[in-house]
Amino acid sequence: MNKRGFLRSAGALGIGLALTGLRDAFASVGSVAPSDLAQDEAFWAGIRAKYRLKPDYINLENGYYSIQPQEVLESFITRVREINMEGSYYMRTRRIDDKLAVRTRLARAAGCSPEELIITRNTTESLDTVIAGFDWKAGDEAVMAEQDYGAMLDMFELQARRYGMVNRRVSLPLDPSSDDEIVELYAAALTPRTRLLMIGHMVNITGHILPVRKIVDMAHARNVQVMVDGAHAFAQLDFRIPDLGCDYYGASLHKWLGANLGAGILYVRKDRVASLWPMFAESGVADTDIAKLNHTGTHPVHTDLAIMNALDFHDAIGIARKEARLRFLQSYWTSKVRGLPKIVLNTPRDPKRSCAIANVGVAGIEPRDLAKTLLDRHRIWTVAINTANVRGTRITPHLYTSVAELDTFVAALKQIAAAA
Ligand SMILES: Cc1ncc(COP(=O)(O)O)c(C=O)c1O
Repeated sequence: MNKRGFLRSAGALGIGLALTGLRDAFASVGSVAPSDLAQDEAFWAGIRAKYRLKPDYINLENGYYSIQPQEVLESFITRVREINMEGSYYMRTRRIDDKLAVRTRLARAAGCSPEELIITRNTTESLDTVIAGFDWKAGDEAVMAEQDYGAMLDMFELQARRYGMVNRRVSLPLDPSSDDEIVELYAAALTPRTRLLMIGHMVNITGHILPVRKIVDMAHARNVQVMVDGAHAFAQLDFRIPDLGCDYYGASLHKWLGANLGAGILYVRKDRVASLWPMFAESGVADTDIAKLNHTGTHPVHTDLAIMNALDFHDAIGIARKEARLRFLQSYWTSKVRGLPKIVLNTPRDPKRSCAIANVGVAGIEPRDLAKTLLDRHRIWTVAINTANVRGTRITPHLYTSVAELDTFVAALKQIAAAA
């Protein structure tokens, strides 16, 4: 069958991954506990081989977005070609059904109903849709943290300028002693005028995982809705969105799911859909239908479709194994440097409060100089963070990161600290 015939009969969703070797590899370790498998370097070397990596540097800056496994990337490129060949025929005959199928599978991964989830371009679009969708009145209040992502903080400021609503920012501690410390911090910032609380599921500059459910329960008891920034948590941590109890959840799929650039999700709890104003109008869609928030005009549909293949790879590995390996990699290097002279870890020490991401500074060295030295002298790529109470470089390994690479990083860090 030629490609056109294939598309017609199977739909563009029909392009699957062979995942050669991967399924067998996981079948052979099926009974191994994720925490044990996390430490099996030979096994993860097989996963690393699925990626095409640049030999010029060790990439410890995987928080921006994920490099895709070759097979996932190739399936995306195939989809680009197919959509180009089909022209409007595809758009007019299959697009809507195919997108619904992707949305349905994503909803399964998120543990929610497809009626509560839409595909967006990224976390920014998802969360800004909610922030701008509120009917803010002068004097209304919103609460967030100064460690939250800049684009969302800016979007709240825009609403303040436009409607006279008021933003209150808390500052998160770097190493909390308990969940209650965080819950109380947010509780103290709420007032009878607070309508929306934004919290990060995982703070991007430190890797700090917040006790989302406890914060949500506290806020709901005070009649405050909660929006969660899940940019880094979705497909890195093993959870279901409804179990968090939140009203809104946004994430980027090009981060930890390893989808192609420009893919995200927005979850809106069913009973919250009706009161949000959409950014773009679409007649004929009910106010209670989440699709009203998703009228994006003509856009790169191959991006939506290829999410399926990122999910294939992700599912073959399994979220429990993925989370365990990522947490192991982070704790492997942090445990070797925590407490050493001049080394400042900006990530909580309690293992349940972090996963892949951590942040480290060296006393007496500016973050940007630390990142530059790591790259220039040691060929290690990281990103400098110097905002709020966080001064250091963010270190983010990925599934393809090896322990040997982390040993190189630890040796470099010790050398830099000794010379500081
Ligand atoms: C916590 C957090 N929120 C939101 C975003 C925005 O993600 P995107 O650029 O994919 O919209 C990021 C990006 O790094 C982030 O780290």
